[in-house]
Amino acid sequence: MFTHTHALQYEAKPDGPDATFARRMQEILGGQWGEMTVATQYLLQGWNCRLPGKYKDMLLAIGTEELAHVEMIVTMIDRLLDHQPLKPDAADRTNEAAAGYGQTNPQHAIVNGGGAYYKDSMGVPWSGAYVTASGNLMADFHYNATAEMQGRLQVARLYNMTDDPGVKDMLRFLITRDHMHQMQWLAAIEQLKEDGLEGIPVPEAFPLEEEVGDLGYTFIDASDGPEASAGRWASGPAPDGRGEFRARPIEATADAPILPPGDPRLYGTPQTEVGGLLQKAKDLLK
Ligand SMILES: [Fe+2]
Repeated sequence: MFTHTHALQYEAKPDGPDATFARRMQEILGGQWGEMTVATQYLLQGWNCRLPGKYKDMLLAIGTEELAHVEMIVTMIDRLLDHQPLKPDAADRTNEAAAGYGQTNPQHAIVNGGGAYYKDSMGVPWSGAYVTASGNLMADFHYNATAEMQGRLQVARLYNMTDDPGVKDMLRFLITRDHMHQMQWLAAIEQLKEDGLEGIPVPEAFPLEEEVGDLGYTFIDASDGPEASAGRWASGPAPDGRGEFRARPIEATADAPILPPGDPRLYGTPQTEVGGLLQKAKDLLK
């Protein structure tokens, strides 16, 4: 179950209105890597988690914290939309507001009446398709670390797009939490290994004997860029601790494919019934 506390986790108060920045801030609310994604992703991973204990509890804890961030960003956007100019000639509070009129999001006023919504900075609706909950904690924790990296990257960019001290203060908080959350997922990955629950490659339980030759440890150079094999991925011990990397050029190991004519009811080219190869063969046999 859920309860709600009116107090915010951290202050979300701009020093002044800024409808232009409110539009940009939508990205970290309803964009692919925004707070809606991480909140619902961690909660779904937690609810779906079939292993009782610290992992499930941690997922539900962080998912709920991310909901608190959703609330803060919605509140910030709402406040940034205060005194939003409804017409260019009504933008009389500051010159900046007048100049920025064309950069505001019309839906903030027309659709939401001066409020935030679950869309990104370009008005693309937030989607549940952004959310991954595979049931494999190692796979998901890596993706969660990625989400925190993309999120912190975007908030840090937004930080450089405003001079409002109140906005910057909240962004600093989000950047700080994303710092912790990146490390949290990286630590959780190590914990999964320590607990013997999963390793690399995911899924570890799939037998390596079923893999093809040495390709599990081979960097295949399929480009003429001369330095493709110059990194750790092409020589030395592999991260799974069970092999050594090697590198070699890509090579074809199978014949060129020749497809039979298609189903005539699908009308592909070549047509197989009228004027097609099959028909010509049949005509020759007559
Ligand atoms: Fe986070």
